[in-house]
Amino acid sequence: MTRLALVTGGNRGLGLEIAKGLAAQGYKVLLGCRNLEQGNQAASNIAGDVEAVHLDLSNSNILRNQIKEILSTYPKIDVLINNAAILIRDEIFDIDEEDFYATMQINLNAAFDLIQLITPTMIKQNYGRIVNITSDFGSFKDGLLGPVSYSVSKAALNALTMNVARTLPDTVKINSVHPGWLKTDMGGLDAPLSIIEGAETPIWLATLEDDGPTGLFFHQKELKQW
Ligand SMILES: NC(=O)c1ccc[n+]([C@@H]2O[C@H](COP(=O)([O-])OP(=O)(O)OC[C@H]3O[C@@H](n4cnc5c(N)ncnc54)[C@H](OP(=O)(O)O)[C@@H]3O)[C@@H](O)[C@H]2O)c1
Repeated sequence: MTRLALVTGGNRGLGLEIAKGLAAQGYKVLLGCRNLEQGNQAASNIAGDVEAVHLDLSNSNILRNQIKEILSTYPKIDVLINNAAILIRDEIFDIDEEDFYATMQINLNAAFDLIQLITPTMIKQNYGRIVNITSDFGSFKDGLLGPVSYSVSKAALNALTMNVARTLPDTVKINSVHPGWLKTDMGGLDAPLSIIEGAETPIWLATLEDDGPTGLFFHQKELKQW
């Protein structure tokens, strides 16, 4: 049976690499993108069954309709990767409030919308894997060291992981992952890790066996403290 995976922000960076990795393992991948032309272009460069789908996370009303449209064509999504995010570097006294709200929308609210609408189908089919791509900048243990909007959004996304895991049956697993500092547009050229290295743990969490973990935070396949 072919499993179906939906990856947000799949047109470039880490999302694209996760899409590639899952397609290589035989998954059909829905590559979420806000610009369908760019998504189609990215999908056409990946070997395997990959289809671009329009998912713009900036507005929840629009997003929820887009998710419902996808579900009307694909009512059984097995894997959801909440990958898309923005990073605005301003700190508390410099950040424009609209930028703070936009970050919370894209990095947190959109993940909530996707989880709320997609997990009921996972529960019904007794199978689901949700991977929330967060960051060490969202770790309380590490001191929430990133810029204010990014750190708060990622800490809240981690909280969503832990909270939702409490409600989901064990057949539907949800975990957070810090992929590491990666050479992407967001991470920049000085980053020590390649995108391929960054994608390893998200792909592992997306393909967990039935006895795999849920409600936890990982980095490089090791447990990370919140
Ligand atoms: N890179 C790192 O060092 C690093 C470290 C820790 C955690 N992470 C996390 O890893 C994930 C991927 O990061 P990355 O480095 O691959 O970032 P990236 O290169 O900046 O790519 C971000 C992706 O998110 C999409 N996106 C942004 N806003 C969107 C919106 N409103 N609607 C739909 N898609 C949107 C982008 O689409 P467009 O092309 O349309 O803009 C792009 O596909 C993020 O969650 C990030 O926080 C990254």
